[in-house]
Amino acid sequence: MSHRTFYPVFTICAGIFAITLVYQTHPLAAPAPFPAAAAAAAQGGTLPEGEGKAITEMTCSACHSIGYLTESTRTVMQWDEIFMMMESYGATATKDQWDQIHKYVYAQLALIDVNKYEPKDLQATLGVDEKVAGAIVSYRMANGGFKTVDDVKKVEGIDPAKVDALKARFVF
Ligand code: HEC
Repeated sequence: MSHRTFYPVFTICAGIFAITLVYQTHPLAAPAPFPAAAAAAAQGGTLPEGEGKAITEMTCSACHSIGYLTESTRTVMQWDEIFMMMESYGATATKDQWDQIHKYVYAQLALIDVNKYEPKDLQATLGVDEKVAGAIVSYRMANGGFKTVDDVKKVEGIDPAKVDALKARFVF
């Protein structure tokens, strides 16, 4: 892309993204503002171990530091917006590689909005099967939602140790 076409595209995308940010209501889930991302970029960053780490690192550090991914928190939906935005900026990967990147980011970085996620997002972020994801939905309907990680541990079939390991990423 020439500079002449890049800047208008960039401005439009940044505008759309700014509008989406304004409409986000969950205070915990709001992405860090740009200065935080810039600071993270200066510091670099390390991705957690997990399947898909290598391809994510390679694809997502082509234009900026990997610190952009690690220094802020986002829900699955907000990560999907980022993926779209990065593609519009020119991030490239095969379909199979994008699948791996999405899976990696959901499993390793995304917030776990246990009271709102639909089953497929619960599976992707918590690494549980369909049955446990269904049990999470049933539990929250029957009990008016989860308030703490201890509530989540009460779900039938869930591994409490796994819940503890992912504790920092839960939002209630
Ligand atoms: C073709 C270049 C390019 C690639 C490749 C790329 N990005 Fe970006 N990214 C940008 C630009 C441009 C910005 C916005 C300007 C800035 O913040 O420096 C940005 C910003 C970001 C931000 C900060 C957004 C914000 O508003 O705080 C995140 C998070 C991010 N990128 C994630 C990713 C992920 C995940 C990947 C891999 C799938 C990726 N980027 C690959 C160009 C790229």
